[in-house]
Amino acid sequence: MAPRIATVVLGLAALTSAGEAGEVSLGAAAAASGRYFGAALDPDALDEKLYRNLAAAELTSVTPENAMKWEEVEPARGEFHWDEADALVAFAHAHGQKVRGHTLVWHSQLPPWLTQGQFSPRELRDLMVAHIAAEAGRYKGAIYAWDVVNEPFTEDGSWRKSIWYEAMGPGYVAIALRAAHAADPDAKLYVNDYGVETDGPKMRALHDLVAQLKRDGVPIDGVGLQSHFVVGSTPADLPAVMAKFASLGVDVAVTELDLRIRLPAGKPSLLTQADDYAFVVRACRATPRCVGVTTWGITDDRSWIPSFFSGYGAALPFDEAGKPKPAVAAMIEAWTAPGR
Ligand code: G3I
Repeated sequence: MAPRIATVVLGLAALTSAGEAGEVSLGAAAAASGRYFGAALDPDALDEKLYRNLAAAELTSVTPENAMKWEEVEPARGEFHWDEADALVAFAHAHGQKVRGHTLVWHSQLPPWLTQGQFSPRELRDLMVAHIAAEAGRYKGAIYAWDVVNEPFTEDGSWRKSIWYEAMGPGYVAIALRAAHAADPDAKLYVNDYGVETDGPKMRALHDLVAQLKRDGVPIDGVGLQSHFVVGSTPADLPAVMAKFASLGVDVAVTELDLRIRLPAGKPSLLTQADDYAFVVRACRATPRCVGVTTWGITDDRSWIPSFFSGYGAALPFDEAGKPKPAVAAMIEAWTAPGR
């Protein structure tokens, strides 16, 4: 997707005005190349002034970190909790931001009534389709893109044996995409995964799946590269992998970028982190169909990393106090440097 002229012009305008003030947001910098810059948000944190102001000022897209997951929206069968997701959508739209819906069909964060319900394959298919219709239908017209299916593959490129796969086989992906398209024909529909940002069995499995979906005329618009990286080891072939997915005729998005540092995070590792964030941004700019970059959180104090990777942290562009780390200036420069 060539950057839309209007978006670029608006972005440049924002860049110019902000630049004159000596500061420019990550969202405005990305918009200068016709792309968005987003982050995963926790609606509960929007009560905190610093977090709210940072989210409002820096982002042109938001993703609910957990608020739209099945266990959150339907903790008991037929009992829906939309408040948090509604709050996030309202915040985003009040600030002119896109919303990436996350995620309709995943093996994780499912409510116990579903996973322990002893449902038949047919019942699971009906439950999955009904869930998609309910959630994508509720937000029809409000969502720019959905992560319709999240993490369908395991590290060796085989199918993850989720309850969805066990019930419907590989075809669950097409069923989910078709249901999402029926619920919201204007939303961009993505399959999203991690460990697919570099050539290997998992990347090739996702590539082959998307190629097959396109051949079968299944509605799919994009591939989400989660991009949970370790500082100093971003995949050198990321640009080539982006181009490979784009060659299938789909958009590419970096959907969950964070760059974890083995703690303590000293100046050298923060500078390497800045280089790595800039590398990812340059890879996106070098891929015409790369539509944007989303980090998985904004400030280090709210990152999932320390809980899941002991001894690691400081993975996000802003520190615990909401101060920009070197990564912020590096990404702005990478978004706005002359050339693509
Ligand atoms: O909501 C409960 C709360 O009631 C309870 O008091 C608390 C303590 O037990 O747990 C809360 O649930 C937590 C949930 O986040 C909401 O905060 C879960 O324990 C915790 O495991 C869950 O972690 C999330 C993780 O997905 C689950 O796998 C992270 O916040 C979230 O950032 C992470 O996001 C995923 C993406 O969706 C998909 N890609 C990978 C990424 C990282 O795992």
